[in-house]
Amino acid sequence: MTQSTLKMKNITIDFPGVRALDDAQFSMNTGKVHALIGANGAGKSTLMKVLSGAYTHYTGEILLNNKKIEIRSPQDAKDLGIQIVYQEVDTALIPYLTVGENIMLNKMVNGMGKRQFIQYSQIHKEASKLLEELNINVSSRRLVRTLTLAEKQMILIARAISRDCRFLILDEPTAPLSSAETERLFEIVRQLRASNVGIIFISHRLQELFEICDEITVMRNGKFISHDRIGEVTIDSIVEKMLGKQMEEQFPTVERDIKDKIFEVEHLRDDEKVEDVSFHVCAGEVIGLAGLVGAGKTEICKALFGESSHLEGTVKMHGRALKIRNSNQAVHYGLALVPEERRKEGILVGENVKTNLTSANLSYFSHRFSFLNFRKERKVSTEMVERLGVKTPSIETKLANLSGGNQQKIAIGKWLIADADVYIFDEPTKGVDVGSKKDIFTLILELAKRGKAIIYASSELTEIVGITDRSYVIYDGKVVKELQTDKTTEEQLLFYSTGGRD
Ligand SMILES: Nc1ncnc2c1ncn2[C@@H]1O[C@H](COP(=O)(O)OP(=O)(O)OP(=O)(O)O)[C@@H](O)[C@H]1O
Ligand SMILES: [Mg+2]
Repeated sequence: MTQSTLKMKNITIDFPGVRALDDAQFSMNTGKVHALIGANGAGKSTLMKVLSGAYTHYTGEILLNNKKIEIRSPQDAKDLGIQIVYQEVDTALIPYLTVGENIMLNKMVNGMGKRQFIQYSQIHKEASKLLEELNINVSSRRLVRTLTLAEKQMILIARAISRDCRFLILDEPTAPLSSAETERLFEIVRQLRASNVGIIFISHRLQELFEICDEITVMRNGKFISHDRIGEVTIDSIVEKMLGKQMEEQFPTVERDIKDKIFEVEHLRDDEKVEDVSFHVCAGEVIGLAGLVGAGKTEICKALFGESSHLEGTVKMHGRALKIRNSNQAVHYGLALVPEERRKEGILVGENVKTNLTSANLSYFSHRFSFLNFRKERKVSTEMVERLGVKTPSIETKLANLSGGNQQKIAIGKWLIADADVYIFDEPTKGVDVGSKKDIFTLILELAKRGKAIIYASSELTEIVGITDRSYVIYDGKVVKELQTDKTTEEQLLFYSTGGRD
């Protein structure tokens, strides 16, 4: 098999108020898996969007096998065999079409011109074959709307490699996946590498990069920092390069008093996933809902926020039973939820940073049209942007123009500004770089210090051990174990999360 070499040289690109790429470099060969890493806003996605033809206004050169090539449109990239699975999974598929139609979209559109009709049976036959080859257990006839985030991710990969593929770009492909699903994805990646595809793999999970990648490029502030073989670097050295400084202790300690029980859930149950869930949380306390991806944590969080059908059980705040039928009521009762699928549910990508940050708390900023409150909005937004280290040219910038991780930070910041009694965080560090996680942990613990009750749902068991006081392990929609964190190890959490019983 002949190797192809790809080189990007001196790539620079400007957007209003930011130089997203500044003389960036990148080079790799086919038959390799290449990690691309950098803090939120470092320019990873932008560099890959240049490669996939999404941007036309960059300067610099791209070379394939040392020959200069022009990539100025997505079609240019596809013609060269460069395929991409974007970070924004939810916008890349058409929800009301089937899996097969989504995978075969290109062929359908091209084929229609010739024959004027679509042969659905043929589409599903081809798509099913591809899904089977990739060991993806989803029917070609299912509507995309009914898929989980993980399933959508797999479908996007299937679609990318259904076309001629020499280089495949995967932008944070594992963020929504469970560890079993990640393993399956890795098998696909290894299979592709063996057939001489070059894979560019972006992720904030360093362990997994070290497991699957051959080489690693680090970026910082739009610039190229280093390119090494994986065997010749360590996680610590990579983190230092990406942050420009040594990594500090991830989990801060914030002295707190744990006071009265303020929120109680008894025998919560819904029609789908939640089965007999009971727990409580006190003022000043951080409790964990620990469990693997798919255990039912998100469903529990949504149920508490009134987003579940046929809810049974009782939910009490300060001893008073609540009837929460929708998210507005939940907010009214003093609940805040930072949802897992933030792009879909947590933020308004067409609105600016300030509007997003202050939208959850209109009462705080009431009399919205007075001069004073405009000032207050600006002040509070600017402070939150600083505290979370959000990389944005200004608070007037549209969220769509922020990097993925910085959008996540805004979704969290919005509820940190809102004044609630009980905060529910569903996988709050997903897509956030290792340097910024600490800022989020600190803010959460400070909320607890102010007497708020925190429910922290996560599949990152290190985080459960790192920031909670107590945790409930969720398995298959049920609470299977309650643990006191200072007496609990990650191994114990994993044992109960995977179905272990005493
Ligand atoms: N279309 C755009 N318009 C304006 N600014 C943009 C646009 N795309 C990216 N940027 C800016 O360019 C910078 C790099 O963003 P990019 O999305 O490439 O970061 P990233 O490394 O992928 O980060 P993350 O880990 O958060 O996904 C950011 O400051 C971002 O705000
Ligand atoms: Mg990105």
